[in-house]
Amino acid sequence: MTDKIFQIIKDDQEYLMQSFRRWYPFIIDHGSGSLVYDVDGKEYIDFNAGIGVIALGHGNTKIIDAVKAQMEKFFHYSLTDFYYEIAVDVAKKLSSFMPYSAKVFYTNSGTESVEAAIKIARGHTGRQWIIGFINSFHGRTLGSLAFTSSKAIQRKSFSPLLPSTYLVPYPDKRDPLCKEDCTESLLAFIEDWIFKKIVDPTEVAAFIAEPIQGEGGVIVPPKDFFYKLNSLLKKYGILLILDEVQTGIGRTGKMFAFEHFNVVPDIICLAKALGGGIPLGAVIGRKEIMDLPPGSHANTFGGNPLALAASKVILDEVPKLLDHVSSVGKEIMEELESTKSPYLYEVRGLGLLIGAELRKDNRPFSEGLEKVLYNSFRRGVLAIGAGESVVRIEPPLTIEEELAIKGTKIIKEEIEKL
Ligand SMILES: Cc1ncc(COP(=O)(O)O)c(C=O)c1O
Repeated sequence: MTDKIFQIIKDDQEYLMQSFRRWYPFIIDHGSGSLVYDVDGKEYIDFNAGIGVIALGHGNTKIIDAVKAQMEKFFHYSLTDFYYEIAVDVAKKLSSFMPYSAKVFYTNSGTESVEAAIKIARGHTGRQWIIGFINSFHGRTLGSLAFTSSKAIQRKSFSPLLPSTYLVPYPDKRDPLCKEDCTESLLAFIEDWIFKKIVDPTEVAAFIAEPIQGEGGVIVPPKDFFYKLNSLLKKYGILLILDEVQTGIGRTGKMFAFEHFNVVPDIICLAKALGGGIPLGAVIGRKEIMDLPPGSHANTFGGNPLALAASKVILDEVPKLLDHVSSVGKEIMEELESTKSPYLYEVRGLGLLIGAELRKDNRPFSEGLEKVLYNSFRRGVLAIGAGESVVRIEPPLTIEEELAIKGTKIIKEEIEKL
């Protein structure tokens, strides 16, 4: 470690709350495309994209030009009390991706989108209960935290959380009670046990789920799970909220992951890639659901014009990349699947949201994960973990095939060396 890196980390430890989990001492100086450079000038292949944010790669000139042009006009003016055109333009564009007439509420982060979705669901239905899924990640503020449950440390010592909430199992075939596909038994559990013994369905406002559990380990549900769940929910007038904060904006090879699952959610939550690296989130819902009365919900920064200028570029460019995302994602997965290691349990994912789970003696192999991530970092590839022992690969959507395979081969070799 050079003196400069050592000093920045020392100061970070002294001046920043240390509630984060860092995997290795990477200190970014700048980025270009799918490459990033540390403060000593060393180059790395970026398989993190700022955790699924930098969809068009680092230093995208179209985003830079759009933000600069908006900066010349005005930085901020608050939609809470005033109007501006770019907010309407981006909302129109977002609505055009939905299979129904939709309205948009802008936020500043994923967790804030989830908070807003909870309020919209309660406010619209007049019902109190919201049900989520075990092993989900929806954010860390006190409302969303009631549904975040991928690691106990996320909740430890922060109770009591939001009341009138409940968590049910996700259809995860690693669950010994689930086996290959437990869609039917899970739906029966919800209808025959939850709705009959814990809460009457007429008191349930919504179910909230990630279409693919990202932070929880890149868990892809059975193809028809959400369609069948939504059919059950609609019998009782219950809304389906899909949290597309990580999976949305092209990450899985479709604009939104729900398109893979033949389901139409009532509300989706977005953030991460939506603002191309400038904080921007959104809730998009059916027009008739997005009906909170004036004064009941707002924020100062939601729909910041600089973020919206970047978002306009994102929403124009990402649809052109979807085939590329699917094909490069497939190649990365094939490369990983050819890994010769007794510790590689499974490769999962869709598009460029990919996980490689490591197991030892039939248990999550978290020391193995740490070694693979650290040694890959030393060799110039940046990836982080998900779940207890899953290598998470989510590069910019623009990553060149050659670079993607070069980085994957390094991770593969590090798994083989375990
Ligand atoms: C699915 C999902 N929802 C919500 C969040 C929270 O987003 P933020 O960190 O912007 O609050 C995340 C963050 O990783 C996420 O992956």
